[in-house]
Amino acid sequence: SQGAWLDGLGRPLRDLRISVTDRCNFRCSYCMPKEVFDKNYAFLPHSQLLSFEEMTRVARILVAHGVQKIRLTGGEPLLRKNLERLVEMLAALRTPEGGPVDLTLTTNGSLLARKARSLRDAGLQRVTVSLDAMDDAIFRRMNDVDFPVADVLEGIAAAETVGLGPIKVNMVVKRGTNDHEALPMARHFREHHGGRVVLRFIEFMDVGATNGWRMDEVVSSAELRDRITAVFPLHALSAAQPGETAERWGYQDGRGEIGFISSVTQAFCGDCNRLRLSTEGQLYLCLFAGQGHDLRSLLRDPAGLDDDVLADSVGALWQGRRDRYSELRALLPAQTGDTPRRRVEMSYIGG
Ligand code: GTP
Ligand code: 5AD
Ligand code: SF4
Ligand code: SF4
Repeated sequence: SQGAWLDGLGRPLRDLRISVTDRCNFRCSYCMPKEVFDKNYAFLPHSQLLSFEEMTRVARILVAHGVQKIRLTGGEPLLRKNLERLVEMLAALRTPEGGPVDLTLTTNGSLLARKARSLRDAGLQRVTVSLDAMDDAIFRRMNDVDFPVADVLEGIAAAETVGLGPIKVNMVVKRGTNDHEALPMARHFREHHGGRVVLRFIEFMDVGATNGWRMDEVVSSAELRDRITAVFPLHALSAAQPGETAERWGYQDGRGEIGFISSVTQAFCGDCNRLRLSTEGQLYLCLFAGQGHDLRSLLRDPAGLDDDVLADSVGALWQGRRDRYSELRALLPAQTGDTPRRRVEMSYIGG
């Protein structure tokens, strides 16, 4: 059974996001607040994790059914041992048209200076680095483990040197915490990387159940764009790919582009083509889903299921998909972070 699947709202499957670990060496308050993710937190035991062979098998089946982009996430993906081996296995996959998949990774950058070259050699094409401030004190406070900004910048430079590009940088913006860093960030990447690094501003999202999300800490993309265009004039660019998370804007003076990811004020569920695979082999149809679908037990079925059987069951799942959480949230009366609701944690599913 070849061919792309459409979900219940007519959306094709295009992106697969694979979380390779639920652990991270940072404790960003919007993702893994220290009080929750402390030494007593029950991270997944090693026996529960999918092996690289299992991840690659799932990826191979899905690439046969329309997946064109694979993103490795975490937690922090570079904490997973021998990740280069997984990258090598995924880089060898071919789409039905015979081309490679777009293989990338979202990292906090802390280990990137050390690993950029081996990742590139293994077949990784590009990276996205999370970075919330240029100011060292603010950055140390936001990662909440006192990690210096210079080391992340070194990681970005290393990625650029080995050709892991185009590099994207993700900045989650929280009002009163780092919103005044937006301009210095924009300035830095314009001046030091001459348009080769794409900075994206992300609206603080109500993801998970522990990050104390409040609407008044969200800075809308519209507001940020006004602030930036007042200093560095911008013009709208068209989408590079259907279903993209970021809206693209170019600097009028030609020094590159920036993006805005507005999942709170301008949901982009309409053409969401992303499927998520957790570290322990649960499939999630939406970042905000309360529950996953157990694929691991099918992968480990004692009867040894064929790829076709696995494909059929994932296909049925995708075809039944009607999730559009961010759109629905926008229709609801202001929900706050303290609304109790079962939801997967960001560090578990990787954003
Ligand atoms: P590119 O392919 O490089 O554009 O990456 P991406 O934007 O698809 O992924 P990335 O990991 O860089 O995520 C950027 C931000 O968008 C993070 O805050 C993610 O949590 C968020 N994000 C990614 N996919 C979705 C999605 O399907 N829904 C929502 N609401 N947010 C998403
Ligand atoms: N809201 C928006 N983005 C978030 N990320 C993590 N938590 C949140 C949140 N609550 C971002 C990370 C990373 C990406 C995968 O998701 O900073 O760049
Ligand atoms: Fe770690 Fe990324 Fe979450 Fe920060 S946002 S705690 S770096 S997984
Ligand atoms: Fe896709 Fe769910 Fe995000 Fe909407 S909220 S874009 S459906 S993952």
